[in-house]
Amino acid sequence: MFNEKNSTDINGPNHVAIIMDGNGRYAKSLGLPRVKGHEQGMETVRRIVVAANQLNIKYLTLYAFSTENWSRPQSEVSFLMKLPGIFMNKFLPELMRENVKVETIGEFDELPLHTKKAVSYAVNKTKNNTGLTLIFALNYGGRNEIVRAVKNIAKDVERGTIESSNITDETFSTYLYTKDYPDPELLIRTSGEYRISNFLLWQISYSELYFTDTYWPELSVEEFNSIIESYCKRDRRFGGLKEERHDEN
Ligand code: FPP
Repeated sequence: MFNEKNSTDINGPNHVAIIMDGNGRYAKSLGLPRVKGHEQGMETVRRIVVAANQLNIKYLTLYAFSTENWSRPQSEVSFLMKLPGIFMNKFLPELMRENVKVETIGEFDELPLHTKKAVSYAVNKTKNNTGLTLIFALNYGGRNEIVRAVKNIAKDVERGTIESSNITDETFSTYLYTKDYPDPELLIRTSGEYRISNFLLWQISYSELYFTDTYWPELSVEEFNSIIESYCKRDRRFGGLKEERHDEN
């Protein structure tokens, strides 16, 4: 069994990103409305956050609402927009006990006011916590993030703050929502779909990918631990040779 305490000793991931998929199919398989799947998915968020914290993972980024999800039926969108509030109401005391810091990436300003209020409250309340940073991708799209970065770089070039000849990978990264986080070493997608779906396009260039058939609401702590364990056994070469292996990013 994977030894949680030793996770960092054996190069466990610092940053794990998850595409939480399969809520709708999970609900359908039980003859329930789709929103019940999302509700159950929220419980999974809670247990995976606790598990990730135990494994000493520093950043957990969860794809909670994509820029494409607005095209879902209005009733579902409206429920998904209520979820952050429901989640924070229910679990904020536990997040505080767990020393979890809540943050977000995505076009925050476009969210409904009640969603922004609930999330901002949790972000503010947890800002001094020093355990796991839980990053909700809300109204997030990878291409949108890249275009936004390009526009802001262009503005800074026009202003003369930076010179186009000085733009590097590192400069570019500082214009992304994720500027304060390391790139994820591991990206997990649940529900048997093998797509990236516009998630963290820039940041996952060297991430290990893990796909499981399990629907998100059914993902257990045991399976999560075994996914992390399987990541630890992978040989990451970053385009180099085995001998040149390095452990940073
Ligand atoms: C994808 O499943 C899931 C989503 C679009 C929403 C993710 C939200 C949660 C897991 C709830 C937790 C969120 C917060 C903010 C605490 P799907 O609906 O596409 O499933 P399907 O592919 O089976 O239809």
